[in-house]
Amino acid sequence: MKKILVLNGPNLNMLGIREPGVYGSDTLASINAEIADYAKTQNIECDFYQSNCEGELVSKIHSLMTDYDGCVFNAGAYTHYSYAIRDAISSVNKPVIEIHMSNVHAREEFRHTSVISAVCKGTIAGFGKKSYMLGVEALSDII
Ligand code: DQA
Repeated sequence: MKKILVLNGPNLNMLGIREPGVYGSDTLASINAEIADYAKTQNIECDFYQSNCEGELVSKIHSLMTDYDGCVFNAGAYTHYSYAIRDAISSVNKPVIEIHMSNVHAREEFRHTSVISAVCKGTIAGFGKKSYMLGVEALSDII
């Protein structure tokens, strides 16, 4: 069975509390449970990891090399400025799908730039928690 990492960056542990009008009222734990159920239907096993720390995310991305077939990644605000995360993704030879729950292009100007898109396989944004499922589906076609 293929194994993927579902990786979440800063403030995504606050889902359910944080700006429910933008991100909905589901917690990260409940979204992760739904992702695991969906992934099983695709014959994919998931690990889940969330961190608010850039270096921890970088180290987890490095673990893709040995431990995973691919990654669905919501980098949160690091999307917009973390060259360290970008370099980590381009250091490993495994597909990473960039996802966002909100439509970042319909929001503030600073969210229109992603420094990681160019090193990801593709980007999904704007579908709420379904963005994660779409990311898993996209990955299932290429791993
Ligand atoms: C986000 C969008 C980012 O701009 C923001 O900083 C987040 C969440 C999203 O899922 O829509 O933390 O990645």
